Parts: sequence; C-alpha cells; structure tokens
Amino acid sequence: MATELDLAITKACEVISDTSTLVRVVLSGRRRNMTVPFERIDLRPVLIKDEIALQISQSDGRVTTVKNVAPKDFQARSYLELGYANILVEHTSGALSIRITKKGEAQVHEEKGTREQNLDHDRKKARLLDSSDPFLIEVGISDSDGRVKPSRSDKYIQVEEFLRLLVPTLNSAIEAKQISKPTLVNPLVIADLGCGSAYLTFAVHQYLRSIDMPVHVIGIDIRPESLKRNTEIAKKLGIAETIEFKAEAIDQTSLTSCDIAIALHACDTATDDAIAWAVNGGAKLLLIAPCCQHDLQTQMSQVPEPWNLLTKHGLMKERLGDLMTDALRAQILKLVGYRTEVIEFIGGEHTPRNIMIRAVLTSAKAEAKDIENYKKMLEEWKIDPALASRLNIIK
Ligand SMILES: C[S@@+](CC[C@H](N)C(=O)[O-])C[C@H]1O[C@@H](n2cnc3c(N)ncnc32)[C@H](O)[C@@H]1O
Repeated sequence: MATELDLAITKACEVISDTSTLVRVVLSGRRRNMTVPFERIDLRPVLIKDEIALQISQSDGRVTTVKNVAPKDFQARSYLELGYANILVEHTSGALSIRITKKGEAQVHEEKGTREQNLDHDRKKARLLDSSDPFLIEVGISDSDGRVKPSRSDKYIQVEEFLRLLVPTLNSAIEAKQISKPTLVNPLVIADLGCGSAYLTFAVHQYLRSIDMPVHVIGIDIRPESLKRNTEIAKKLGIAETIEFKAEAIDQTSLTSCDIAIALHACDTATDDAIAWAVNGGAKLLLIAPCCQHDLQTQMSQVPEPWNLLTKHGLMKERLGDLMTDALRAQILKLVGYRTEVIEFIGGEHTPRNIMIRAVLTSAKAEAKDIENYKKMLEEWKIDPALASRLNIIK
C-alpha cells in the first residue's frame, strides 16, 4: 500500500510535470541517516530559444552549479527521493510542501495563493553588496565615489563571501524550521563576536534588511574605540534601532543569547570564547571563520610516534596545530549537538585564514565512537583544547 510519503511525492511529480504552471521547486535539509549530493537544489522552468527547459541549480553552500534539462528528460521522482527532508513545490496557484520527519513520515501542507512564473533563464549573479552602498562608504571599504578601495578589496570579498554562505544556510535553517521565521516582533538575533570595524556586522544587517528579513544585529568587540566608531556609523546611517555595539569581552558579554553567532577572524582563543558563548546561549547556527591559532601549537610538545614526522619542522607544526585546533572545535560542536562542517569560505588569495566552521543545532546525541575518538586524540597527543574547558567537555 502506498504510504502518505509516496502519495505526496507522486502529487509533487504531477505538479512539476506541468511546466506551464510550475514556479519553482526547492529541496533542502537532509533526512535522517541519508546523505545528499548538494546542500540545496533549486529547480524552475526557464525559456531558452522559445523552448521550455528546467533549470537545476545545485548549491554546496558556497558554489552553485546550474544546468538546463529538457522536461522530458527530467526524472522528478529520482530528485525528490534523493534524501532531502524538505520539498517545496510552488505553482501559479499555490504551493505544496512536504517535510519528512526523522521517522520517515511525511508532513504535507498545501497552500493556495497566486505565484508568478519567471522564465528568464539568464538571471545575473547579483553582487550581494553594491560597492556604492552608503554603509560601505561609511565603514571605509569604498571611497566617496562608491568604488572599493584597493587596500580594502580583500575585506570586501571576505565579507561578501561570508554573506554568500550565511544566506543559503539561514534560508535552509528557516525552511527546515531549525530557526523560526523572523518577524518584526521576533527578529532574527545575530551576534558578530570580535566585530572590530564591523564590516561584516553592517553587511549582514544591511543585506538581510534589503531582503526584508527582520533582524537585530549586535557587534561585540573588546575595544571601546570600536564601539564608539561603529555606533556613530549606525546613527549616521539611521539604523541604530536594529544594530547595536558593545565594548565587552566575548566571554563576559552582557548579551545572553542569539539565533546566529558569526565571527570573522576573532583572534586566537577569542574564537573559542565565541563558540562557547554561542553554544551556552543555545545559538541555532554558528558561522565561525577562525584566525590565528596558538592554543594547541604550544601544547604539542609530547607528540606520539610516528606523528612527530609532522611536527619536527616548525612550519608544518604550525599548520598542523591550526588544523588540529579547528578539527577539535568541529568535533566538540558535534559532541554538543551541532551538525558541523568545515569549509573554505573564500579563495586563499584573499586571506590565508579561509576556513569556516559552520554548525547547525540539531541536538542530536553524540555517538559513542565520536566521543571515544575525541578522547583518544586528546590522550595520545596530550592536548587540552581551549574550547573543551570553556564547554566543560569531559576529557
Ligand atoms: C582580526 S580582528 C577581526 C575584526 C572583524 N571581525 C573583521 O573581520 O574585520 C579581531 C577582533 O577581535 C577583537 N577581540 C579579540 N579578542 C576579543 C575578546 N576576547 N572579546 C571581544 N573582542 C575581542 C579585537 O579587538 C579585534 O577587533
């Protein structure tokens, strides 16, 4: 007998097959115990040389690949059964959404409402941040003519790429109901930890507001001069009601929680302070691009054989120390209930500190093997990561 999920997928396939009314399809989230080839897949009909094609955009969270296929060659069911937990099919008179629970059951929701088809196949990849946006001029990334200053171009690209990762991750988390849809009464609370001159803080605020997402953004930096400068800019831009700054150490901040914690190059163990603060406050999403890591390098003095081959050259020891620090941060996040990935958020030519730890709160219980591996690594290398003590993780 067909299950409710089979029936829902059959219905979705029918809607997808009618390209005269199909608006778009979004596949996101991952079903329990399943792996998916892309973080998200978007599909929509497009008009190419007077013929309708289906445009498939597959995103790994950083890079999106796009291909167009003829509707007759498109196997809708095989896409819908790839292992995504959320299937959204929009058509010109409504939408069908299927959420597949941990038990593999379907929660089906149908909605009526007019939606428009956009068959334009060549949508330009828009820059998320227009270089002449007043905030970029105020923070000093662009000059008064709205051109990015050569000396600030790497920072501009870092911020832009950070946003490119944040936005789909956030949208997926909202679609998967890991984060509640922000409203004016309950805006999305985002904390930028170690915000410095607040390039990223302002960018996140301005970009999310430009797509009508209600937000409240807080930039935290230990330096009082950052607070003064950033607050003046916020007032000048007329946005001081929804963006604020605090001159506080991350581990002692008066802010108690946020929905999303971000940190771009918070120095050394300030990154651990940022992760620990976010976890303790129950942040649903963490996007952390660490900076210099000295914590483990100084502890790597009793390296187990034969791994001292990797540490006897200073340069390699330093790089290994960086990798181990971030690997253990990612593992700790997993142990405390976050689905965690380590990704490159930007090309190495713009910053050598180009790793990002992206973690989504799932509250999944840690598996015994993960705990065992973590403990074994600490024991063999005689190391004690800064983040572990901040989160009281057992040795
Ligand atoms: C390398 S800067 C990065 C600034 C900014 N995120 C960016 O990417 O442009 C690191 C910032 O972290 C701040 N910081 C370092 N340790 C901190 C701590 N424990 N609490 C708060 N801020 C801290 C510093 O004052 C500095 O502004």
